Amino acid sequence: MSNFPSEKPVLVTCGLPYANGKCHIGHLRTYIPADIFVRSLHKQGQDATFVCGSDTHGTPIVVSAEQAGSTPEQFIEQYHHHFDEVFKDLGIKFDFFGSTNDPVNHNRTNEIVNKLIENNYVYPKKIDLAYCPHCERSLPDRYVEGICPYCESQARGDECDQGCGRHLEPGEILEPICKVCGSNAEYREQEHYFFRLSSFKDFLLEHLDTLGGTANARNYARDWVQNELRDWCITRNLEWGVRFPGHDDLVVYVWVDAPIGYISFTEEYCNNAGLDWQQIWQGDSRIIHFIGLDIAYHHCIFWPAMLKGAGYSLPWAVIASGMVKIEDKTFSKSRGYVVWVNDDYLDHGFHPDLLRYYLASYTSHTKELNFSWTVFKEKVNNELVGSLGNFLHRTLHFANKNFGGVPEGQVSPDVLAEIRETIQNVTEAMDEYEFKKAIDTIMSLSAYGNTHFQSNEPWHLIKQDTDACKRVVKDCLQIAKALVLLCEPVIPTKMKEAWEQLGLEGDVSKMTYDEALVELESGRALPKPAILFNKIDDKKIEEMEKIMNKRVAEAKAKEEKTTSAPPQVQEISFEDFKTMDIRIGTVVSAENIKGSDKLLKLQVDIDEPEPRQVVAGIAQTHEPGEIVGRQVVVVANMKPAKLFGVESNGMIMAADEDGAVLLHPEKHVENGTSVR
Ligand code: 2FM
Ligand code: ZN
Repeated sequence: MSNFPSEKPVLVTCGLPYANGKCHIGHLRTYIPADIFVRSLHKQGQDATFVCGSDTHGTPIVVSAEQAGSTPEQFIEQYHHHFDEVFKDLGIKFDFFGSTNDPVNHNRTNEIVNKLIENNYVYPKKIDLAYCPHCERSLPDRYVEGICPYCESQARGDECDQGCGRHLEPGEILEPICKVCGSNAEYREQEHYFFRLSSFKDFLLEHLDTLGGTANARNYARDWVQNELRDWCITRNLEWGVRFPGHDDLVVYVWVDAPIGYISFTEEYCNNAGLDWQQIWQGDSRIIHFIGLDIAYHHCIFWPAMLKGAGYSLPWAVIASGMVKIEDKTFSKSRGYVVWVNDDYLDHGFHPDLLRYYLASYTSHTKELNFSWTVFKEKVNNELVGSLGNFLHRTLHFANKNFGGVPEGQVSPDVLAEIRETIQNVTEAMDEYEFKKAIDTIMSLSAYGNTHFQSNEPWHLIKQDTDACKRVVKDCLQIAKALVLLCEPVIPTKMKEAWEQLGLEGDVSKMTYDEALVELESGRALPKPAILFNKIDDKKIEEMEKIMNKRVAEAKAKEEKTTSAPPQVQEISFEDFKTMDIRIGTVVSAENIKGSDKLLKLQVDIDEPEPRQVVAGIAQTHEPGEIVGRQVVVVANMKPAKLFGVESNGMIMAADEDGAVLLHPEKHVENGTSVR
């Protein structure tokens, strides 16, 4: 039994693209399958509202706008328009594509945050946050970079983007550096507002047990809820964003107002269309979120807790797509492993439907997808040209040439049974969000059609047994009609053309799958068919690969240039230098720190009553045993810091050459001797 159609109102959303850069293939991994799903719902007779919009707040926007020398307003406007256009060009048909900066979203966010405050789910707390003394500003999220406290990789303030992938809370990042000026940042105490996420633990575990969608999203979230659920800081020191009620110096964290966009876009759409948005967001409904796996915990933890806390309906399903690789390499804009939808695809004359087909049929939705120009060519040439296009064209061409229209006779029961079973299998696969399986099933019907045509040899029958020939052609035309209906969600523009070639009226995107079982009317004229899909030639693919290789080489050269350039450092006066208390000390003990493979905890005698405790990043180059008894150079007036929960009251000086090379005095000196 299929899940659809359902009596309940259905809303489908897609993760909101940040309005801070161009659309690339990575984005499409979510939007294209979501569009296919919605179109398939329509084909099952299910009404569904489909909304998305630009994510316009937070540091991703402010930092990029600043770098582009633009205001956030101008900046988001440009990319909002870009995404809206690209989605239309690709046949991704949202009912509404909004912006989180729309007044409706500001209002809805205010209402929800106030409701959470009223319900006692929000409280103030003082925390130590990165602050740049040079820029004289606090450094929220992407304004700061440093070391991830969980895996020690380079990370940005809000996310360990190069290591373990965790969401980082404000103040968590270690060794913070200001992204704007490159100075070492310090920590300063500030008051922020926290959402009592930890009080939602039982609710979330229960919610995750009933949540539909793909298991990858639920599993990821369940682990987190079990082990790591903590209260969540929901305010930031920024000018740009949705004001936190009652505080002119704070905005809400972008991950608060962005998903609220799902509600406000539904509101805007329903208000324009004379529908009731509350039926969806405050009634019994099916809310279905399509996202990338990297934002699963936002959608399966923060978001349902916020909805619950403010009295809104909960998501019914979260479908998380796997990540994208480019030519077997990890997707990376900075390293050149990216395919821009306009520059690298549409502007080269490739048809949008081919990319839709490739992205949805390459692999299962939750698996990693590799984009390769060669595989793209092979899939198009073998499957769309060789099987589907071939079958549609040979059938239509033969019917048009020999009968000028649909011949008399009835479609054979076997063929109707085959079509019926295909529809059933396709809807089942769609219900499981297995788009590849759905497309493979459709392509099996195409293969069945080709075999039916080929094995019955209508080109011989036409001379020997016209009635038999008519039966075969009628069968094949019926299979063609079914294929067009079944393929429409995947390749809508091409199937619109094919529908017209079948001499059929009406909008194929509005027809249901059942229509595939309605027999074509005998005698209906068929226009002269045109070829639907053309082979992609090797030359074109070589050209595309060259573009990619050139971009990768340029990115590499650029990186080498920046890493080999001498670092830009400021001059300092002798007075500045004198502010540093550098002394010689002897390591009296050294031990590893649990959970860290880079850090050692040292006790260093610098001629004080007690040895100094210093945490040093030297575990990969030094065994604890080998450095005890050695003299080292210690910066003794470093601000205390905590690394892996261990307090560090100084810094050991080392030359940085593929690891730490410790400095030491040329001959033994008294512990505590100053360095000048
Ligand atoms: O990760 C991202 O690209 C975000 N812009 C997604 C936001 S989805 C939603 F919750 F708003
Ligand atoms: Zn990490």
